[in-house]
This record gives sequence, C-alpha cells and structure tokens, in this order.
Amino acid sequence: MLEGSNDPSYTTPDDAMRAAADAGAVLHMITGAWVSQTTRAIAMLRIPDHLAAGAETAEDVAKRAASEPRATYRLMRAAASLGLLGYEGDRRFGLTGRGQLLRSDVPGSLRALALIQTAHAHWQSWEHFPDAVRQGGSQTKAALGMDLFEYFALPENAEEAALFAAAMGDLSGLVSQGAVAIVDTGGVSTVVDVGGAHGDFVLGLMRANPQLRGQVLDLPHVVEGARREAAKAGLSDRFTAVAGDFLEEVPAADLYLLKMIMHDWDDERCVTILRNCRSAAGPGGRALVVEMVIGEIGKPDFSTRVDMNMLNVTRGMERDVDEYDALFAASGWRRTATDPAGGGYSILQLEAV
Ligand SMILES: C[S@@+](CC[C@H](N)C(=O)[O-])C[C@H]1O[C@@H](n2cnc3c(N)ncnc32)[C@H](O)[C@@H]1O
Repeated sequence: MLEGSNDPSYTTPDDAMRAAADAGAVLHMITGAWVSQTTRAIAMLRIPDHLAAGAETAEDVAKRAASEPRATYRLMRAAASLGLLGYEGDRRFGLTGRGQLLRSDVPGSLRALALIQTAHAHWQSWEHFPDAVRQGGSQTKAALGMDLFEYFALPENAEEAALFAAAMGDLSGLVSQGAVAIVDTGGVSTVVDVGGAHGDFVLGLMRANPQLRGQVLDLPHVVEGARREAAKAGLSDRFTAVAGDFLEEVPAADLYLLKMIMHDWDDERCVTILRNCRSAAGPGGRALVVEMVIGEIGKPDFSTRVDMNMLNVTRGMERDVDEYDALFAASGWRRTATDPAGGGYSILQLEAV
C-alpha cells in the first residue's frame, strides 16, 4: 500500500500506525500558522515577562496582560502543550527554557522575531505564497503594493520597521557570539557592517576587539537605531552609522560584514553588492558573509524553510555553497574558510582576489 494511505482494505496494523503518524505529521504542518499566532499572542501579551519572577495563575497573568481570564487560561494551556510554559497545577503556569526565549529582556530573546513574522507585512504576504511559486518571485507587491524595504521605510510603518530591525538583532544574537569568536581581526582597523541594521554584529566585534572602528551602512530610516545601540553599548566614540544604498556604493574598510544580506537579493544584485565592497576594499581586503547555507537535499534543514520566506517576501533566496562560490567568483572574492556560527548559520570568510 502507499505510505500514508488511509484505505482500510489494504491496512496491516503497521500500515495503519504509519498512516496515523503521517496524518498527524501533516496536520501539524497544516496548522503551523496557528502555532505561529499562538506564539505571537504569548509574546505580545508579554506572558513570559509576567512569569519571569515565578509561576502564576492564568487569572493573575490576565490581570497584568489586560486580557480575558478564560481565554488567557486556554492560551497558556496551549502554550504548555507546545512546551513554552510548564503546568504546575491549580491553573498555575511557569516558564520553560523555550518560554524564556520569548522574554523581552534576556540575551538570546526571540520575541521580536516571533512578533515580526506574524505582523502585517509578512503575514499578509504569506496569503499569496502559491503565486510566489507560480511567478517565481516576491508577493509583497500583491500584499502591500511595494517591496518589503520600501514598506518599512514609510513613516506610518515605523513601528513595524523597528520591530524588523529588532528581530534581525534577535537572529544576530544566535550568531554573533560564535562569529566573534571565529573571526580573526588581525590587521583590521575598520569594519563596515553592510546593511547592518542596528549593528549587533559589528558592535559585538568591536566589544571584543578594542582596536576596531566600526560602521553600519543601512537605509536612512534604520541608522538612527544603530547609533542608539552603539551609545547603549558605550561604543559611540569608535562607531559611525551611514545612510546609503549598498547597491550604489559602500564605504572603504579593511573588513566587510554581510550578514543576512545575500539572501535578500537575486544573483545579479548580490554580485553588485559584493563588487561594490570589492572596489572599496583596501589591499588584502576581506569580507565575511553570514548566511544559512543549504545542505544536503532531503535532510531536515531549517534553511529550506527560511528559503520559502525569502521567495515570498524578497527578491532573494537561500543558497548552497556552490551557488555562493559562483557569486564570489563573479565579484572578485574567493572563499577561504567556512565555519558554523550557531543558530544554523555559517560564516563564509572571503579574501579579495
Ligand atoms: C535581513 S536584514 C539584515 C540586517 C543585519 N545585517 C543582521 O543580520 O541583523 C537586511 C538589512 O539590509 C538593509 N537594506 C536593504 N536594502 C538596502 C540598501 N539598498 N542599502 C543599504 N541597506 C539596505 C535593511 O534595512 C536591513 O537592515
């Protein structure tokens, strides 16, 4: 019988168990959007923050979250079933290790990411996803009337744009520590974080390497946030943030950081960005590309899931290592090392050819 078939006339007990397990797995996939929204509600109502000091009843949490008590209990019960909360009896719930990751104020927090993926721009665009496959491209125009980064640049979307930048910071948290440990900054005095958002990566490098001067190049609506983060980190004296367009020009530096930039763009624009870095690089210039590199087909691989998001909301894609090497070769760079950097990311180290 076909694997996963429910036809009772062909079902041995083993087939039936496998069919039930397959149906359960597919049901989880079908209802994944409900899980995203449950996670969003937990994050948005700040339930993990309310539980940070210890377990509470759903009713007490509801008072602090200004939410309806019975609905809050049902939400917390669902979150306990997802492993975000632990049930302690008597309608009391506590935080698990996973739930801790949705607190707003902890290193490694994924709260902003949980919120941005279910906020207007991404959520509306996903409704159009099958058309992304039919047409081979982003659906933000269909959903929002414009590209994602144009949408975030509009003043009326400032709050969502700030959330996006913070979500990028959340992802940086998964990578930066590992990356900072790997990167050899010998001979480097200036670093430009190309499309660096709020600068988490470059600020991490600067913290670990007191000789470094760092810069973020990003769109005008983003750079003020980068300056604020540098000030918070006490690094303003070695840091600048420049508003610009990396498709046009990139400032001179010894080392370029391109973290989650390539995956936003098609091959042609990736080559343009990399060439701009190559032209501005000093002799012996170096670059670090940080991305999720697609591995062997057919193995569980989170990067292929992220690739669907890239297909839907950007002009970009996740790539395998050969596809990256082709971009580097076309833009005057050569890959010299590849290391895992945590959170499923890899650091591809490049030197100018
Ligand atoms: C996916 S985010 C990555 C941010 C950051 N590198 C990180 O890993 O956290 C892409 C960044 O590119 C910036 N960006 C998009 N288009 C740009 C352009 N034409 N010039 C400069 N920055 C741009 C966005 O504002 C955003 O901060």
